[in-house]
Amino acid sequence: MAKEKLKQARTYVEEESRKIPAEQKPEYHMSVPVGWLNDPNGLSMYKRDYHMFYQFNPYDTKWNTIHWGHVKSKDLVRWEYLPAAMAPDSEFDSFGVFSGSAVEDKGRHILLYTGGVKETLPDGTETALSYQCIAIGDGMEYEKVSDNPVITADMLPEGCSHEQFRDPKIWKEGDTYYAVLGNQYEDGGQAVLFSSENLSDWKFRTILDRSENKYGTMWECPDFFKIGETHVLMVSPQNMSEEGLEFHDGNGTVFLLGSYDKDTMQFQRKCAHAVDYGLNFYAPQTMETADGRRVMIAWMQLWEYSLEEDGCRWLGMMTFPRELTVRENRVYQNPAREIERYYQEPVFYKHVKVNGHQELEGISGRVLDMTVDVEAGEYHSFEIRIAQDQKNYTSICYNRKESVLTFSREHSGRPIDWAQIRSMYVQRQDGKVRLRILMDQYSVEIFANDGEQAMSSLIYTRPEAQGISFWAEGTVFINIKKAAVVIR
Ligand code: FRU
Repeated sequence: MAKEKLKQARTYVEEESRKIPAEQKPEYHMSVPVGWLNDPNGLSMYKRDYHMFYQFNPYDTKWNTIHWGHVKSKDLVRWEYLPAAMAPDSEFDSFGVFSGSAVEDKGRHILLYTGGVKETLPDGTETALSYQCIAIGDGMEYEKVSDNPVITADMLPEGCSHEQFRDPKIWKEGDTYYAVLGNQYEDGGQAVLFSSENLSDWKFRTILDRSENKYGTMWECPDFFKIGETHVLMVSPQNMSEEGLEFHDGNGTVFLLGSYDKDTMQFQRKCAHAVDYGLNFYAPQTMETADGRRVMIAWMQLWEYSLEEDGCRWLGMMTFPRELTVRENRVYQNPAREIERYYQEPVFYKHVKVNGHQELEGISGRVLDMTVDVEAGEYHSFEIRIAQDQKNYTSICYNRKESVLTFSREHSGRPIDWAQIRSMYVQRQDGKVRLRILMDQYSVEIFANDGEQAMSSLIYTRPEAQGISFWAEGTVFINIKKAAVVIR
């Protein structure tokens, strides 16, 4: 029985994914073969390949019967679909194989994940119990171990929620394995640390940090890593409260930066900022590449803002992988450099004057990487319109006086009544602003000032809308570097 569910999913995916035309999918963003995708899981290097798993319902474009989908890549750009790795088929994950992580260890690929089990309480209400489980594999086939669950909620100190306890992120230091997990306390979300010497016996160690009624009610998908001298705890809180342009209501993502004392296992938070300021970004996870880069990938959607195309057989994609660095108490994000290998037809412009409306020869398309440098000048606002046709466009507009960049898909051609606009502060440097825009069939990722801020959102404008134009209130001079990104 155990293997039956997985076999069934694999056969279904093999047959049904073939029916989806490649042109319907993003070009260079990893997307689900068929069905539904949410969080990236198990991002890791294994035998010199990059592996990524993901929350996966093969059978529908809605969240349900969560499996682990599986892809691998040599360069973080082209992903090869592999057979699904796990199905919800064991006693400790019958409601779903929820989020988790992976690590390579002595030639084995170790997965640590949350198993969900549905339970009906004596009063008739339903609840999901969480068990932290291990599966071990060879990059293709994974076996859930017999001593699961390896971490249970009764190992948590008093006051910690037993229901809200999930999404372990594992790493190894010396001979010790560590895992940080999302949990809940009376004042909101928290990140708890466990350790083990043998993967079977785990011990609660400490609470790394908690919301204290400021950063949401529950922390999902935590990750904990070091960049240079800074320790970063990254979390995806539920039910955040709006705070100016920094945080918006609902699910969010937060970088908590600080220092960490390994001996006492105490994390001292210094500051916090949003991971991404866009409309569709959640549950990011990171890994370290062989050459020492910290790379992050997120689910390019959000529970609240699912874009479902009528009749579409697939729903869900990831952000393009981003390299993280730290500068002056901020985590900078830039697209993984491997993208440059896939550039075609580069176009350059220098010192172009924009006053009112401007279109430029060679500057159009939907699948591209484009950097626009806005030089110092006296202007009120500068706008880039993308995915444009006679009727629709998506707007990226910089208001100079307020130092605010606003993304709007209000005119992008999908009349759905939910959030369409997000704004973030972007300071000028020597009077200049740099905007790098990664576009694919359905998505726009904006990186401001060499990665100081990022903003990711989906758009579902018809693919024929290829126009790009520039608008200035006042006069600006811009430099442009643009290339198509082609991987198929
Ligand atoms: C985050 C999340 C995780 C959970 C998974 C279930 O988006 O809610 O906390 O493990 O999705 O699919």
